[in-house]
Amino acid sequence: MEKTERKFLKDQAIKHPSLKNLYKEIQADLDKVEEKLKLFSSSSNKIISEISSYLFQKAGKRIRPALVILCSKLFGYKEEEHILMSALVETIHTASLIHDDIIDNSDTRRGKPTVHSRWGSNITVLLGDYLYIKTIGLSLTSKHREIVKIFTDASTAMIDGELKEYSLSDNLELKENVYLDILNQKTATLFSASCRIGGTLGSASKEETDLLAEYGTNLGISFQIIDDLLDYTGDKKKLGKPTLSDLNEGRITLPLIYTLNNAGESDRKEIIRLYKEKGNRENSSKEILDIIKSNGALDYTYQRAVDFSNKSQEILKKLPESNYRTSLHLIPEYILYRNR
Ligand code: FPP
Ligand code: MG
Repeated sequence: MEKTERKFLKDQAIKHPSLKNLYKEIQADLDKVEEKLKLFSSSSNKIISEISSYLFQKAGKRIRPALVILCSKLFGYKEEEHILMSALVETIHTASLIHDDIIDNSDTRRGKPTVHSRWGSNITVLLGDYLYIKTIGLSLTSKHREIVKIFTDASTAMIDGELKEYSLSDNLELKENVYLDILNQKTATLFSASCRIGGTLGSASKEETDLLAEYGTNLGISFQIIDDLLDYTGDKKKLGKPTLSDLNEGRITLPLIYTLNNAGESDRKEIIRLYKEKGNRENSSKEILDIIKSNGALDYTYQRAVDFSNKSQEILKKLPESNYRTSLHLIPEYILYRNR
């Protein structure tokens, strides 16, 4: 971790890289993606148009669309399909979050009430379904037919990962490798798919497209590890969603996994005791957090995110150099320092 911090301090300009800085090469295209998302969500059905405009108000980080655009431009893509494909990737992501918020009982996202807490779960499930199917339908308009399969493969892997995570809720025996496999499926597949779609549009070779996908996988795993870390350490207001919710909802993530596997017997027993009573006593989660902190599990978790971030940057070195590659190189650094 120290090495990474020193690396940033050396170059003040890229210390804590901002999204604005990362996106400077592609801002005009990202603006077009926003327009596309608005169009895409306009519907004669009032429920669809109302909830879609609530969902697509510009509050997200738009990392996945940025990946599609940057990866296509890295290979000199000059046409316009990347705008729609970026909007579709963001739509799959958005649909998965509204379903995930039902599963996780989350009432707030991006600082606003979640869709199910405003419109109810029945409507939310249907809206998510609508967005998924609409996305797959629109992906069929691409000249590059393989993109449809990239979307369907990513979607099935995401469902698989989300199901595994849910079915392993409250399982204190969960091991790091299984946890990482879940992150890969539920989160990293869409990052990887975004990069693969970009490479496909840019007519990159199979080898190059595979490298882009591998970069996306490592980036996505790093992103989700930080997401899980912020659930323990983040600021509720900046994050726009509640903290300690993984623990409260029974999702076993790396800080807890590490502690259970590395703490001494008395801390381990105490965590298990506190875990069993966390539903009944508000302070239990905070006490679990104290034990997690005192065992260095937050530092360890951060270090694992750094490992995947470094790996993603290593992979990039094998791809052609350009300003687009520089932006792709900065995204993993932004992810490590993000607070939302
Ligand atoms: C957020 O995780 C959730 C995901 C990254 C994926 C959710 C996937 C599904 C609901 C299945 C997708 C279905 C299709 C058809 C693509 P989190 O709960 O750890 O993050 P959070 O703290 O932001 O809620
Ligand atoms: Mg969630």
